[in-house]
Amino acid sequence: MKRVAVIAGDGIGPEVINEAVKTIALAKEVFAFELSLEPFDWGASKYLATGISMPEDGLEMLATEFDAIITGAFGDPRVPDNKHAADILLGMRFGLDLYINLRPIKLIAAKLCPLKDDRRDKVNFVVFRENTEGMYVFMGGNFKKGSADEVAVQEEINTRKGVERIITAAFEYARANQRKRVTMSDKSNVLTYGHDLWQRTFKEVAPRYPDIAANHLYVDVLAMWMVLDPERFDVIVTNNLFGDIVTDLGAALQGGLGMAASGNIHPGKVSLFEPVHGSAPQFAGKNVANPIAAILTSAMMLDYLGFKEAAVAIENAVELAVQHDETTQDIGGNLLTTEAGDAIRKYLQKA
Ligand code: NAD
Ligand code: IPM
Ligand code: MN
Repeated sequence: MKRVAVIAGDGIGPEVINEAVKTIALAKEVFAFELSLEPFDWGASKYLATGISMPEDGLEMLATEFDAIITGAFGDPRVPDNKHAADILLGMRFGLDLYINLRPIKLIAAKLCPLKDDRRDKVNFVVFRENTEGMYVFMGGNFKKGSADEVAVQEEINTRKGVERIITAAFEYARANQRKRVTMSDKSNVLTYGHDLWQRTFKEVAPRYPDIAANHLYVDVLAMWMVLDPERFDVIVTNNLFGDIVTDLGAALQGGLGMAASGNIHPGKVSLFEPVHGSAPQFAGKNVANPIAAILTSAMMLDYLGFKEAAVAIENAVELAVQHDETTQDIGGNLLTTEAGDAIRKYLQKA
């Protein structure tokens, strides 16, 4: 039996993950498969109460006993330095070597998209965000901190191995999913060492996939084309920080952060699934957050675990709920979080 660790997290995390869990539970009934969902209370409250963000053996336990992890979000105003989020979320990404952050940008109903006219019909691509290095390695420091002469240094790390494996993963995904083009995006005109490594590696990997077109865009112009002509994109591969930024832009094309799902993946190993959005503390406890990002994330996870039919059925149920405006306010409906989840499950039940 597949085992899933459920870490609801902070802010709106518990509310949206609750809807994801109820949806998975229904999918198990409808499609008759076995899966256990085991909750963990890691997050800001536990950290504040005990000083522990994640138990010492936490990563080892996840790696050896679980097939997947689903989380809400981490971030709480009571922890201004976000230490627990770095320990738990980045801890899992790095510690479990989840080098692919796969973020699909797929618009499921034209009315949700802020773009004009037929551009809206063309929002359907995926971002491969490098997930284990780049600007996220916490290498750096301060000199004369707090003084007028303060110096702050923060390094970006790009390794040959790290860059090659994410670029290769993007091409492999393109080939396996009938995608025609991989676009690599960097800032190699300015970052002439780190991103030159991306340039050279991309030029070496791309010819191994003669069936897939390969092109390059600097990240500034990539952002422009994502808005002006999203049809240009099929698979985008980029570094950790740029991937973070462009996928919030991508979320906007899909109807907002309440719609965007993601997976942190190491093929064949325990992998972590989470909505792209954060803990939106201003909505916490109000039953207003959009649960769709979390529910689509659960579908991504079920797909990863081999329950493809259930994953597709959940996606279809979400589309039906959106078509009928049985949704939360951020995307034009007037339902509460729990009601929006129920609406999706009503359509899933009929699948
Ligand atoms: P956020 O994603 O939490 O919220 C930004 C805005 O997006 C919200 O104000 C809201 O308007 C909208 N939004 C997000 N999720 C929504 C949902 N489900 N339904 C409806 N609207 C939604 O980003 P933020 O405000 O920059 O960050 C808040 C906290 O979350 C910070 O502590 C941040 O570090 C953290 N964070 C965590 C993760 C994660 O754990 N994966 C991701 C991003 C941010
Ligand atoms: C995301 C988030 C995280 C990131 C934060 C919370 C560390 O913004 O998953 O997109 O920057 O990766
Ligand atoms: Mn982000």
